[in-house]
Amino acid sequence: MELILDTADIDAIRELNEVYTVDGVTTNPTIITRSGKTFEEVRDGMLEVLAPEQKLFIQVVSTDFDGIMAEARYICALRPENTYVKIPVTHEGMRAIKACKAEGLGVLATAIYSASQGFMAAKNGADYLAPYVNRMCNLGDGVGEVVRLQAMLDQARMDTRIVAASFKNVEQVNELLENGIEAVTVPVDVAWNMLDIPSTPMAVDEFTRNWDAAYGRKTLLA
Ligand code: E4P
Repeated sequence: MELILDTADIDAIRELNEVYTVDGVTTNPTIITRSGKTFEEVRDGMLEVLAPEQKLFIQVVSTDFDGIMAEARYICALRPENTYVKIPVTHEGMRAIKACKAEGLGVLATAIYSASQGFMAAKNGADYLAPYVNRMCNLGDGVGEVVRLQAMLDQARMDTRIVAASFKNVEQVNELLENGIEAVTVPVDVAWNMLDIPSTPMAVDEFTRNWDAAYGRKTLLA
């Protein structure tokens, strides 16, 4: 299973990296603009904070084939490996996905709103597919559509991986994971909510209080 962070907040990535086993980071143009940083600042922060084995996914901004290809080559040249260009599944994007794969570039097909869109991007060779779970939930059965996409890939014996995206809460993430989806990209608040339940520190406080009351110290070792 791959846990990916959907953020351009370098400090948050650093903190989450210490607590979790993080497999990579995704961004999109909106996420970068909302970070309050320039693209170059975010890019340099990512290159510094990510270990070589952690994946980096950066989305193109251009919407025409030549522009997408130029940005794709730039993005994939940022690191020697584990770097993927995110390309939306428009007509131009689908052409670019095929061309990128012919050049050996790592590709994540994004802005996927249906199982058939994802399937066609897989057929063009995309390494990863990013269906927008919450946005699809707003239109219908988002989780069901992603599960259907996985079933279609399995049936066709395609090894393209789904990295489910656009999460708004932990329940959506759990539903995908329990249905066998192997990668999720989650925003910082959802990532912390996967761990932070107030009852846990409250339970720990009680253990410490009881130990201290009995032995006069807050540590196991005398
Ligand atoms: C990640 O790859 C997607 O771009 C992102 O999850 C979209 O999330 P949103 O629906 O919150 O914009």
